[in-house]
Amino acid sequence: MSDRLIQDNDLVFLILDERRRWLVQVEKGKEFHSHLGIIKFDDIIGNTFGTVVFSHPHDTQGYKFYVLKPLPSDYVIYMGRKTQIIYPEDAGLILMYSGIRPGSKVIEAGCGSGALTCILGTYVQPNGHVYSYDIREKSLRTAKRNITRANLHEFVSINNGDILIDDLDHENVDSVILDMPQPWMAISKVKKYLKFSGVLVSFSPTIEQVKKTTFALQENDFTEIYTYELIKRTMQVKENATRPQVRMIGHTGYITVGRKILEIKNPYRERKPKKFEKVSLDGMPLKE
Ligand SMILES: C[S@@+](CC[C@H](N)C(=O)[O-])C[C@H]1O[C@@H](n2cnc3c(N)ncnc32)[C@H](O)[C@@H]1O
Repeated sequence: MSDRLIQDNDLVFLILDERRRWLVQVEKGKEFHSHLGIIKFDDIIGNTFGTVVFSHPHDTQGYKFYVLKPLPSDYVIYMGRKTQIIYPEDAGLILMYSGIRPGSKVIEAGCGSGALTCILGTYVQPNGHVYSYDIREKSLRTAKRNITRANLHEFVSINNGDILIDDLDHENVDSVILDMPQPWMAISKVKKYLKFSGVLVSFSPTIEQVKKTTFALQENDFTEIYTYELIKRTMQVKENATRPQVRMIGHTGYITVGRKILEIKNPYRERKPKKFEKVSLDGMPLKE
């Protein structure tokens, strides 16, 4: 996957088994201590990603650790986190529906621990940028540390800013990503930063938030408004019992997307706006 050798300060994904795995930054002369022995970073630096190392002392420990190049999904699960995180499957959908690609200009609020920020930063390279905001000092510190560890500081700025109140110096942004308690309250403000046809994506754990966000998008000239929920099932593969794993995460959150439009009234066929439409149980419009 990678053609370059592991260097001092690189982030590596150290795997012992299915449960014991760590995202660590290798530093010359330093060590990683686990209860199954010590991993010397000097054994890793200069090797290729995908190599294996053995814990010291070799005669009493000698456990095998795989050294992989971290995937964006590893940032989410294994990064130091202080807030609720976005799961990799949701991050994947966010990337697809936000249209984020190399060169994109993105605003994110809040950054939380910076897990999603790292993923966004990975995809906007080499000439895009993620401007991420949060109001909590603790989140800002953690996110900054994680961005630096992931070596993404060139593509990501972490700033103290209240997306609901502050007038931020942005325009023509490709996408706005909201993962915060009251996204609907931010929509009229962030709309100004977005370019026409730009995408707003909001991640919320509850349907109450989704409803308010959807109605706010409708009122603020967004179209193509949809909400999705992803449910991921991991498969257990065994000689005699290949099937979905018994335990799973039943709910992560809802992803609501909308596209900013230049709303102009139709002079030929103006219809009554459809907002706050009520429908029957089988989805047919209900007349008041
Ligand atoms: C659930 S966390 C975000 C987690 C993040 N997506 C991650 O991957 O780690 C929500 C964050 O929104 C921040 N927040 C809440 N209100 C905000 C506002 N008005 N402006 C900016 N950030 C805000 C909180 O401080 C918190 O860190």
